[in-house]
Amino acid sequence: MKPTVFTFPKIFQSSTNMLAFFSILIPLGVMIAPMASASRCSPAFIDKPDLVGASIIDIEANEAHNFSAVSIGPGSNQGGQYTINFCNITVTHTHPGRNDKVHTQVWLPLKGWNGRFQALGGGGYSTGFGSIYLTHSVATGFASASTDGGLPTGNGKDAIPTDLSWALTSENNVDWLLLENYASKATNDMALIGQQITKSYYKKAANYSYFAGCSGGGRQGLLMAQKYPEVFDGILAIAPAINLQNFIPAGMWASQVMNENKHYPLPCEIEAFTKAAVAACDRLDGVEDGIISDPDSCHITAYDFIGKAYTCNGVRSTFTSSSAKVIQAAWSGSRSASEKYGWSGLNKDSAIGSAYIPTECSTNNKTCQIGESALLGAWFKYLIAKNPDYDDNNMTRAELFEGLHSSDVDYSSMLGTNDANLSKFKKSGGKMITWHGMADEVIPPNGTIAYYEEVLKNNPKAHDFYRFFEAPGVGHCYGGLGPIPNGAMSQLMEWVEKDHTPVTLHATKGKNDTARDLCPYPLRQKFIGGDSRNATSFTCR
Ligand SMILES: *[C@@H]1O[C@H](CO)[C@@H](O)[C@H](O)[C@H]1NC(C)=O
Ligand SMILES: *[C@@H]1O[C@H](CO)[C@@H](O)[C@H](O)[C@H]1NC(C)=O
Ligand SMILES: *[C@@H]1O[C@H](CO)[C@@H](O)[C@H](O)[C@H]1NC(C)=O
Ligand SMILES: *[C@@H]1O[C@H](CO)[C@@H](O)[C@H](O)[C@H]1NC(C)=O
Ligand SMILES: *[C@@H]1O[C@H](CO)[C@@H](O)[C@H](O)[C@H]1NC(C)=O
Ligand SMILES: *[C@@H]1O[C@H](CO)[C@@H](O)[C@H](O)[C@H]1NC(C)=O
Ligand SMILES: *[C@@H]1O[C@H](CO)[C@@H](O)[C@H](O)[C@H]1NC(C)=O
Ligand SMILES: *[C@@H]1O[C@H](CO)[C@@H](O)[C@H](O)[C@H]1NC(C)=O
Ligand SMILES: *[C@@H]1O[C@H](CO)[C@@H](O)[C@H](O)[C@H]1NC(C)=O
Repeated sequence: MKPTVFTFPKIFQSSTNMLAFFSILIPLGVMIAPMASASRCSPAFIDKPDLVGASIIDIEANEAHNFSAVSIGPGSNQGGQYTINFCNITVTHTHPGRNDKVHTQVWLPLKGWNGRFQALGGGGYSTGFGSIYLTHSVATGFASASTDGGLPTGNGKDAIPTDLSWALTSENNVDWLLLENYASKATNDMALIGQQITKSYYKKAANYSYFAGCSGGGRQGLLMAQKYPEVFDGILAIAPAINLQNFIPAGMWASQVMNENKHYPLPCEIEAFTKAAVAACDRLDGVEDGIISDPDSCHITAYDFIGKAYTCNGVRSTFTSSSAKVIQAAWSGSRSASEKYGWSGLNKDSAIGSAYIPTECSTNNKTCQIGESALLGAWFKYLIAKNPDYDDNNMTRAELFEGLHSSDVDYSSMLGTNDANLSKFKKSGGKMITWHGMADEVIPPNGTIAYYEEVLKNNPKAHDFYRFFEAPGVGHCYGGLGPIPNGAMSQLMEWVEKDHTPVTLHATKGKNDTARDLCPYPLRQKFIGGDSRNATSFTCR
């Protein structure tokens, strides 16, 4: 908002008297041109979004100035503190007869709109992260949206939305309507509301519409491609939580093994197993960098280390078979010939201790007991046992597998988000990128690989509009030793807008000061010589 009539006297430029200054000028009519543009940020000037099956309850709109927050893009570790000026619009709507109340935040840059709309996903048991993603998105010029889906979680209200108590109306009664908001409805609503509000505010529709999300947000991205294929031009669906009805309860397998044997490994013993596995498999991709790029060729098991020595907080110990059982449960997953409802495990360079082997230990780390895995445990309590008081650490093995079975039966059609037929998305010209950290410590990458294989089976040329990249050494959404593809969104925009196909995904310097070009699946990185920190020292094959 640069005044055309005059420039601000210096004294006012950084003064809190600015508002008073304006209110003096407005009656004089001096600021008419710039103020007219500012005043568009008012409910009176915003057209009510039109949405089949929804009734708009309220629209609030106010300019927000100098809003400052720490923010990142989904699947990026290059966040920071951003200060933004935007039109802050909150649309509240309900689905008549459902008694829900959904809040969609639409944040529109006051200056420097890049002509694009970006909807942002959530994670955990939420559909949106609010300012955590919105601030960065607005700072980079996007008209941006996030939704709370009518849930008490998300939109910045909690950092880690693991609360699933909203999924029950009372013991044994699932709130199917709210669950459907979480699964799909709210995400599409947010997109349509956001696009319409953007058009109404700028008097011009966005040139391009994008979706970006990681984890639960990655699942929302795939959902849009599968079920609402015409809404977005480009979708960045990172580490997608597809098949969550399977992998979430199956992730409790290692806890089950701990509880059955009443053996709870020490944190540094868990880390020692990881180190030992990395030491054994690190070189298989040609370079020793703490990263296992090709997990399928890493055949070592936790049992192979039994009796070998490791050092735990300066104390020399040997790996025990009871600990090996627990570690191997996290690595191999609950899949076995007899257990139809099992799932893959985590790769061996991932931080298995956090979600899959939750322990609480004495301050000196001498003894541990079972800890709480908030994300995994909540699913079992609320959606399988449907009882908030259920003790998910006192199950029989049969109960665990019955639970995995019933979870699959009850929720796969609503939440699985694994339809491999993307023909309508292709037809509407959509482009999509998925990457998944191979050291993901929450969502086993194998589920994403299996889904992409299905997509290719359905359409062997799916590569032309949907590309999947493995990110070796990267944890859940970011983190880990591996270089992170922070520029994935830019590469997606290049693909959508200029038809520049992302041949590789550029991953920037990770903890080891390394850069890599991530390979399009099914290719994997292979060292060809040179400085291993240099991307050009690797090729895809
Ligand atoms: C926003 O911050 C800038 C720079 O610190 C300052 O000049 C300006 O007065 C602030 N605006 C408002 C509305 O607070
Ligand atoms: C945006 O507006 C909503 C509702 O009017 C308000 O609750 C919220 O605090 C505002 N956010 C910012 C960053 O100004
Ligand atoms: C959006 O499209 C219009 C033409 O419809 C063009 O003038 C404008 O530069 C485009 N904006 C961006 C950011 O691409
Ligand atoms: C306990 O183990 C954890 C994980 O290895 C470590 O971060 C922490 O420093 C240890 N605490 C003590 C007192 O050794
Ligand atoms: C990368 O980091 C790991 C763990 O910190 C270390 O073991 C490895 O030697 C490092 N590799 C390089 C090439 O620096
Ligand atoms: C992932 O799938 C491959 C191929 O089916 C299999 O060999 C591997 O063991 C699986 N990995 C995990 C961690 O389950
Ligand atoms: C665990 O389950 C057994 C029976 O399966 C029951 O007798 C026991 O009370 C339970 N323990 C707790 C702490 O709930
Ligand atoms: C994919 O879906 C399209 C349209 O919905 C349908 O025409 C086509 O037969 C499907 N393809 C496969 C392989 O299932
Ligand atoms: C990386 O490799 C390129 C091409 O071989 C070379 O020009 C560049 O200097 C290398 N950079 C580093 C940091 O080694």
